[in-house]
Amino acid sequence: MKRQKVLVTGGAGFIGGNFVQHMVKKYPNYDVYNLDFLTYAGDLTKHSEIEKEDNYFFVKADIANREEIMSLFEKEKFDYVIHFAAESHVDRSITEPEIFIRTNVLGTQVLLDAAKEYAVTKFVHVSTDEVYGELDFDPNTFFTEETPLEPNSPYSASKASSDLLVRAYHETFGLPVNITRCSNNYGPYHFPEKLIPLTISRVLNEQTVPVYGDGKNIRDWLHVLDHCKAIDLVMHDGVNGEVYNVGGHNERTNLEVVKTIISTLEKSEDLIEFVTDRLGHDKRYAIDPTKLEKLGWKPEFNFETGIAQTIQWYLDNKEWWEQIISGEYQNYFDKQYTLK
Ligand code: NAD
Ligand code: TYD
Repeated sequence: MKRQKVLVTGGAGFIGGNFVQHMVKKYPNYDVYNLDFLTYAGDLTKHSEIEKEDNYFFVKADIANREEIMSLFEKEKFDYVIHFAAESHVDRSITEPEIFIRTNVLGTQVLLDAAKEYAVTKFVHVSTDEVYGELDFDPNTFFTEETPLEPNSPYSASKASSDLLVRAYHETFGLPVNITRCSNNYGPYHFPEKLIPLTISRVLNEQTVPVYGDGKNIRDWLHVLDHCKAIDLVMHDGVNGEVYNVGGHNERTNLEVVKTIISTLEKSEDLIEFVTDRLGHDKRYAIDPTKLEKLGWKPEFNFETGIAQTIQWYLDNKEWWEQIISGEYQNYFDKQYTLK
């Protein structure tokens, strides 16, 4: 079998970064190209272990830059495109929606054109359960692949728009695509603007943790390595044109998540600070992963084992997240909330 060329967009970010490491280590016969624009969320220091490997390559490029993307595809003739690159933070999409449309919608369309022009074997679009909107608190309701798309935030609206473009390129041009819609991820290298790494880093620094509203909103948490394995499976075995939901039935309220982290780190719950709720805050997300399980996926972590591993990782890798929170992110955060 000839060497396969895999383009991973957003491979300097949280999930794309974990995926690049997974692929480089697991498939020495694949050449893995990490394409990333290195926005505030992109960081290459996480790849110090793999950057010397012969099958790892880095390309700095903007997915919305048509000329650059087309000439890269023309030169490299990729077999697979695994598309993670995006603006990913809901709070930022509320204050600065425009960049979400540019990157998530226009950027995806440019990649689709390139994938079509240079006939890739598979285009996997990494999407989110947030495109389905929100569920109420009835624990027997779940998002399936048939749930209508009803995105509520500018972030989820931009992701839903890109999902529809991916679908259209399959229907119109026969592009071999899959869309994955995963629940909230957590794990190593999670950027500390998101709830779990923000809580761990702030608790370790004895700083207050902002909980939006009453803290009763529910998210369905999945360890990032289980998400990476799901994408690996879908890129190889997914049926063209199909959507696969990814989730491991780990629903927790935000308050439960924050309290678990505080108690694991043996700190005081006095650090919890209830702050003004997020605008349009989705109540609950919960995934039905039956279709993916039938394809052969089974998660390795449950929330208890996954959060313990993650907290330990943040304890062992303080340098990584300290370098990040001392930069631009901290300024952004301080602009939004006044914390004790
Ligand atoms: P992230 O914000 O950590 O990383 C995004 C990466 O994309 C960064 O490295 C950034 O530099 C890069 N990027 C941004 N704009 C770019 C551009 N114009 N060109 C090239 N690169 C660009 O995001 P994440 O949490 O790793 O999410 C990755 C993907 O997974 C996103 O598409 C997101 O919608 C999806 N997703 C995330 C979650 C989650 O819980 N984090 C859950 C389900 C799906
Ligand atoms: P987040 O990690 O931003 O992911 P998403 O909005 O994509 O689900 O937020 C997870 C949940 O935690 C969400 O309900 C909002 C809430 N939250 C807080 O209560 N405080 C915070 O500081 C942040 C960032 C999020």
